Amino acid sequence: SDTCTESTQVMRPGVLVGRSALVTGAGSGIGRGIALRLLALGMDVFGVGRREEPLAETAAMAEKLTGDFSHACANIRDTAAIEALIAEVGERQGIDLLVNNAGGQFFAPAAQISRKGWDAVIDTNLNAVFVVTKAAYPFLKARQGAVVNISLSGVDRGSMGIAHSIAARAGVLGLTRTLALEWAADDIALNCIGPGAVITEGLAGEAAQAMLDRLVAATPMGRATSIEEVAELVAFLATPAGHLMTGQLLQIDGAAHLGSGLHMMVTH
Ligand code: ADE
Repeated sequence: SDTCTESTQVMRPGVLVGRSALVTGAGSGIGRGIALRLLALGMDVFGVGRREEPLAETAAMAEKLTGDFSHACANIRDTAAIEALIAEVGERQGIDLLVNNAGGQFFAPAAQISRKGWDAVIDTNLNAVFVVTKAAYPFLKARQGAVVNISLSGVDRGSMGIAHSIAARAGVLGLTRTLALEWAADDIALNCIGPGAVITEGLAGEAAQAMLDRLVAATPMGRATSIEEVAELVAFLATPAGHLMTGQLLQIDGAAHLGSGLHMMVTH
């Protein structure tokens, strides 16, 4: 990638001091990058993830940053557990920003996706987003908060090899737009960010690398989206400057969603 971290970090230092965020999937990849950027800008961040070790690593990376980082392990698919955790976090530190970043999928043509695999992806990427967002609602309302749902470029079109994930995230886009209407009176802004190809540590292995190479080849601007670019947009959406923008799908993908190059996305 030829992105320059320095040039993508444009937010004013301290701009988010005194505010509080809850980030799911904060132990790795995009979620960790978002958490660290918000912390650097002064925000207090509560990170949720399935496993302790990656979250502890995020905590170690957060030590010298301005905001306070706390974390807990929870499976967002466990409704009772996640509702209890969000209530606890909301009562302790408030929630100005909810980032629904946790998620995942496996690559398979639809004909090879089992009912069980389908259900798992829908549960994590759609149902859990509803549960988490609804649980955060009273706290977001108390602070005229914002919700950012991390989605995918091309989510309102289609993407070969991830039918379950696209179905779930298209559902999240519909949920986002509907809540933008229902919660407008509460002054809560909700948006989706659709990154193009993003290089994360989760993309290990030859198959993943080949997939990424094809995605980049199908991107008119010819490069992947950096974690820092996604994080900066999240930070902007957490400020008053971004608050009137709501119900949007913000694709940050070098025009990948406009290209016909997505036909190259064959996975089998
Ligand atoms: N990241 C990916 N899947 C998750 C889950 N079920 N719970 C929390 N974080 C996750």
